[in-house]
Amino acid sequence: MTDSFNITTARENFPALKQDQVYLDNAGGSQVLQSVITSITDYFSNNNVQLGASYKIGQISNTKYNDGYKAAAQYINANPGEIVLGSSTTQLFVNLAQTLKFSEGDEIVLSKMEHETNVKAWHHMAERLKLIIKWWESPKPELKLTPENLKPLLSPKTKFVACTHVSNIIGTIHDVASIAKTVHEAGALFCVDGVSYAPHRQVDVKAFGVDFYAFSWYKVYGPHISVLYASTEAQKHMRPMPHYFNPTTTLEDKIGFAGSNYEATQCIPRIVEYLGGTNPKPVFEAISEHEGKLSKILLDFLNSRDDITVHGNTSADSNERVPTISFTIEGRNSKEFVQEVDKVSNIGLRWGHFYSKRLCDEVLGLGPEAVIRASAVHYNTEEEMRALVEVLKKLLS
Ligand SMILES: Cc1ncc(COP(=O)(O)O)c(C=O)c1O
Repeated sequence: MTDSFNITTARENFPALKQDQVYLDNAGGSQVLQSVITSITDYFSNNNVQLGASYKIGQISNTKYNDGYKAAAQYINANPGEIVLGSSTTQLFVNLAQTLKFSEGDEIVLSKMEHETNVKAWHHMAERLKLIIKWWESPKPELKLTPENLKPLLSPKTKFVACTHVSNIIGTIHDVASIAKTVHEAGALFCVDGVSYAPHRQVDVKAFGVDFYAFSWYKVYGPHISVLYASTEAQKHMRPMPHYFNPTTTLEDKIGFAGSNYEATQCIPRIVEYLGGTNPKPVFEAISEHEGKLSKILLDFLNSRDDITVHGNTSADSNERVPTISFTIEGRNSKEFVQEVDKVSNIGLRWGHFYSKRLCDEVLGLGPEAVIRASAVHYNTEEEMRALVEVLKKLLS
C-alpha cells in the first residue's frame, strides 16, 4: 500500500463511507477496512477452531493468530513478547494494574486531562496498595502536559506516571518522548494512553521511550480489539498471573487471560498493510498533511467567531494536534445544538464529556452537556469539513 497510498482514494477502502452520512465521530470509533471485513468473514468461514491443535485447519488457525500478534508488535516497534492483545484498552490497563508491584506510601502521578480509562485502573491500584496520588494538569488556555508542569509533582517516592498521548477532547499532541525522559530521571515508570493518537500518527514505542502504551484497533480502522505494550524491563515490575501450570515469559503469558479474540487478532496484518506495512512513514506523512487541511477549514471558522470557544490548541498545525476538535457556543447547549445539526444535515457530530469527565468538569469548567466534538480522520474530505462549516453558519445565523 505504501507507494500507492493515495489520500484521495483512501475512502474507497471503507464500504461504510458509501452511505449518505458524514462521519465526524471518529474519535469514538473509525469505520472498518473492507480487507478487515473480508479477513474476518474468511476466518469464521474456514478457520474457526480452538487454537493449539495439530490437525490441518488447526495449524492454519494457529499461524493466522500468531501472525496477528507479530504484525501488531512489529507495527508499534515492539517484540512479540512485549505485547498483549485484549478486549479494550480499559480492560488491558485494569489487567496491568492488578500485577504492578509497589509499596505502601509510594507516589503515583495521574493526569486530569484523561479519558477515565487511564485513571480508574491506577486509582483502584492506589486504593488497594495504599499509594499516594498526585494530580497533574495544565490549565487553560495551554492545556498541554509537559516535563515542566510535571516536574513539581515528582519526588524520590514517585514510582508511576500516567498520561494520554492525545486527549480525545482537545486533540493536542503531548510530547511523550520528552515526558518519558523526565519520568525516567525520577526513577518512575511511564504509562501512555495512545487511543486518540494511533488513528492519526505512527506509533513507535521505542522512539517514545515509554514503559507501557496501549491503543484500540476499533479506532484504527479495525475491529474491537486493543493492544498493550510493556517493555521487557518494565515487565520486571509485574507479578505474572497465569494459571499455575502455564509459562510466564511473554506479556501475553503474564496478563493475556485468553482475552484476545481470534478473528480480530488474525485480521491485524490487514490493517498494518493498509497503513504502509513495514514502511508506514510516507503513509502517515500523507495522513498528517491531509488532516492539517481538515483541521484548518473548521478551525478557521470556529476561531473567527466571538461566540465560540475552541477547547485546547486553536492552531491547525499537524505537529501540534490531530483533527479532534471540541468547542462550545455561548448561550447554546451542546446536546441541543448537535440535535439541530442532525435535523438539518447528514453530518455526524457528538456532544458530551466522552469519559474525560475530570477534564471537562475540573479543568475546562464545563456543564453536564460539555462540548460539541467533530473528530475527523484521513478518510474525511475537505468538502465534508466545508459542509460542516456551512451547517454551523446556518444554525448560528
Ligand atoms: C483517549 C481514550 N482512551 C481510552 C479509551 C477507551 O478505549 P477502550 O474502549 O478500548 O477501552 C477511549 C475511548 O473512547 C479514548 O478515547
